[in-house]
Order: sequence, then structure tokens, then C-alpha cells
Amino acid sequence: MPAPDVHIWFHSTEALDAAAIAAAVSVLSDEERARYRRFHFPRDARDYAAAHALLRRTLSGLDGRAPDRWRFDRTANGKPFLVDTGGFHAAFSLSHTHGMVACAVTTGPDAGGIGVDVECIDRDVAAGDIAARFFAPAESAHLARLNDKERRDRFFDLWTLKEALVKALGVSMAMSLSSLVFTIGPGGSVALDAPADINAPDWQFGLFTPAPRYRLAVAVRRSSVRDAQLILRSAADVR
Ligand SMILES: CC(C)(COP(=O)(O)OP(=O)(O)OC[C@H]1O[C@@H](n2cnc3c(N)ncnc32)[C@H](O)[C@@H]1OP(=O)(O)O)[C@@H](O)C(=O)NCCC(=O)NCCS
Repeated sequence: MPAPDVHIWFHSTEALDAAAIAAAVSVLSDEERARYRRFHFPRDARDYAAAHALLRRTLSGLDGRAPDRWRFDRTANGKPFLVDTGGFHAAFSLSHTHGMVACAVTTGPDAGGIGVDVECIDRDVAAGDIAARFFAPAESAHLARLNDKERRDRFFDLWTLKEALVKALGVSMAMSLSSLVFTIGPGGSVALDAPADINAPDWQFGLFTPAPRYRLAVAVRRSSVRDAQLILRSAADVR
């Protein structure tokens, strides 16, 4: 059986006008709309609305129901899941960072864990210090051998991969990130070394540059021996 495709949508939000933001807000639930109104900075509210509207529209593109009809709940760890799906099976994840939002969705009865993380990489970050504190020694040592630009880029590769896997697992913030050890090959291949209960061979990863200043990683639990197709698309191209 081929693995179901993984649909990864991203949307650059810097240029969204008031009408586009209002359209996004219009498909949110009452609870999401209340949260939207509580953000202090308008850009955070914009990105929140854009991310949740993107997820709702992506699900609707796969199932046909109206974007405002999806209902969600959360696990104790904060991982959102669908309720009242009427037999529609999907695994999904969403991410928002300044100026960019993304979601990843896969469908089918065997749809397993999925996680996505997008980060703006065009910012000063104490990559060496953070890696020394939160990453595995082998990852820190690898970063230490790179020049400043390479170190920042590779740091965000590792960061987004870890965050994507943490989200796919749906675990809490207490998860030890240093136990998830990623190695990125020269051609961009991603290998994971992790505790036995995570079963590294179960996982497929993708690393993308949706726009020049952003890095996006996706983690997908395999439902087949074959790799799933990871289909990355910009929401701006179709909406
Ligand atoms: C939960 C976590 C992964 C969210 O990541 P983030 O980069 O802060 O934020 P993102 O915008 O990418 O993702 C937020 C979304 O993830 C989802 N989410 C929240 N908790 C989640 C969980 N336990 N599992 C899966 N998804 C979760 C939600 O949809 C949330 O968006 P919403 O609140 O608008 O619905 C992160 O806060 C976390 O716990 N990290 C632990 C690892 C860590 O300490 N990393 C530090 C650097 S390596």
C-alpha cells in the first residue's frame, strides 16, 4: 500500500491586508476568535488567525466541508485533534512564526503522527549556547565546526526538526530535546537517533525553505514501508 500523501501548506503573512485577515477570522470558532482578540501585538493575532484559517481550509480541501465547520479539542499536553469528524481521518499540525504560517495534513485510516515547525532564520540567535544547553553533544560538536552563517542555518535545521518531531509525538514541553539526535547528510538527508520507545525507523522527515528567510521541517510517522510524498505548496498560489 502506498503511504498517503502529506500536504504541507505555507502562507507568508506580512502582506496580508485587512480584508484577508477578516476572511481568516471569519472561519475561526468562537474560542479561536476570542484567543485572536487577546493577542497584544496585531502581527501575532494576524499570524494566529492565518494559521488556523490555513489549517481549516486545508482540511476542507480534502473533505469538502466548510472551513468554519471543523471542531477541535486538545490533549492534556496541548496537541490539538479533530472531533466530530463523521468518519474523516486526518492527522495534522500547525505552526506560526513572525510573517509565516504553515500546516501539514495527512489523511486516511492509518494517518499517524505528524508535526510541522516553521521558523524565521533571519535573526540573531546564540546558536552555540542554545545548542550546548538543549541539543545532543554530537549536534553541538557539529555546529561548533561550522562558520557563523552555516552554524545559524544548521541550528535552525536541527531546531525545526526537533520541534516537528515533538509536535508529532504530542509530548509535553518537558521532553528532553537532547535525546532526539539528528544528523543531516550532505544532500539534505535526515537521520534520527532516538530512545527505543520513539523507534526512529518509524519516522520520515522533510526540510524545506518555503521562502528565503524561513526554514520548515515536517516529521511524519510512517504508515507504510514506502516514504510518503511530501507536497509543499504556497497558499498564496491558489487563494
Ligand atoms: C509545543 C511546541 C512544540 C510549540 O512550538 P512553537 O514553535 O512554540 O510554536 P508553533 O507556532 O510552531 O506551534 C504552535 C502550535 O503547536 C500546536 N501544539 C501545541 N502544543 C502541542 C503539543 N504538545 N503537541 C503537538 N502540537 C502542539 C498548537 O496547534 C499550537 O498552535 P495554537 O496554540 O495556535 O493552536 C513548543 O512550545 C514546545 O513545547 N517545545 C518543546 C521543545 C523545546 O523546548 N524547544 C526549544 C528549542 S529546540
